[in-house]
Amino acid sequence: MKPIKVGLLGMGTVGSGVFTVLKRNQEEIFRRAGRRIEIAMVADLDTTRAQAAAGSGVEVVADARKIIANPEIDIVIELIGGYGIAKALVLEAIEAGKHVVTANKALLAVHGTEIFAAAHRKGVMVAFEAAVAGGIPIIKALREGLTANRIQWIAGIINGTTNFILSEMRDKGLDFDVVLKEAQRLGYAEADPTFDIEGVDAAHKATLMSAIAFGIPVQFDKAYVEGITKLGAQDIKYAEQLGYRIKLLGITKQTAKGIELRVHPALVPAKRLIANVEGAMNAVVVQGDAVGTTLYYGKGAGSEPTASAVIADLVDIARLHGADAAQRVPHLAFQPQSMSDMPI
Ligand code: NDP
Ligand code: HSE
Repeated sequence: MKPIKVGLLGMGTVGSGVFTVLKRNQEEIFRRAGRRIEIAMVADLDTTRAQAAAGSGVEVVADARKIIANPEIDIVIELIGGYGIAKALVLEAIEAGKHVVTANKALLAVHGTEIFAAAHRKGVMVAFEAAVAGGIPIIKALREGLTANRIQWIAGIINGTTNFILSEMRDKGLDFDVVLKEAQRLGYAEADPTFDIEGVDAAHKATLMSAIAFGIPVQFDKAYVEGITKLGAQDIKYAEQLGYRIKLLGITKQTAKGIELRVHPALVPAKRLIANVEGAMNAVVVQGDAVGTTLYYGKGAGSEPTASAVIADLVDIARLHGADAAQRVPHLAFQPQSMSDMPI
């Protein structure tokens, strides 16, 4: 079978991880996908840096639209981030009939309804495993493994940067700003780290999980969002003395009044598993009516963990590319009118 051809937009932390992992594990990935996955083109503002990372066999361009215009490209991976140019490029790629893989939770949480509708019209896939909880396959778990369940609630640590900050402040007594800088250096933080520390990134992710779990449209604007910027070293210390850990939790829950969607710091008893999730690790607890409580744990940020999820989406698409649209993994299968006026 012919290789499936991929164009990658944004050769930063995650983009370079995708290259590294695809190259290192190419034989395993080939066997599992049933065909070669070939990154044929890369777009990045810094073409010299991107060319050095991609190697000489890959065409590197500054203008991402050259990738979208190339009829040989089957899949576009968007790893630029943000809602600006990334939104335009994703919509243009869909319009050009290309499948899209993205790690951009901000884009999907705010503009997902428009993007998924466009993809549905064109019969292409928009896959986003990497957008929630980095390397943890939580989107697959919700869509596939737990598909028989009525999901009752989801709660978790879904931002690596803030969990890293809270852990380092507690364990090493370091200052907030020092640890934030380290999270940026390690590639955990968003381009605008305000999104991490103010809880916005976690709310983007909770919004996506909520939409999948409860079959509602993506409604980030209805989320209650509070970050960790008002917390000080004393709060962390007092919580510890009382037998608790402070964790930034993303929570979405089915209630009699509607769906709750919130992100805020919470006191978690120190004995609970989730209280012991440290550093940039993430953990998501899902409660289903049939399965009971399930827990998903792993690296929530960083180059290769996130690349692992991006490549999982590539493999899914490679397996189904050319198949009838109805066979493909659905986008968000929501019912637009049914719950749009529910209080969240
Ligand atoms: P980076 O900032 O490291 O990478 C983004 C890259 O895109 C940079 O190389 C940037 O170039 C380039 N870029 C900017 N504008 C354009 C453009 N118009 N055309 C082509 N390239 C462009 O971000 P990350 O890799 O960390 O994140 C990428 C996405 O993945 C984001 O949506 C993020 O939220 C998401 N994500 C990140 C995770 C992580 O751990 N880092 C985990 C999960 C998701 P330049 O540097 O010159 O601006
Ligand atoms: N900035 C995000 C985090 C990256 O720290 O969790 C992973 O989505």
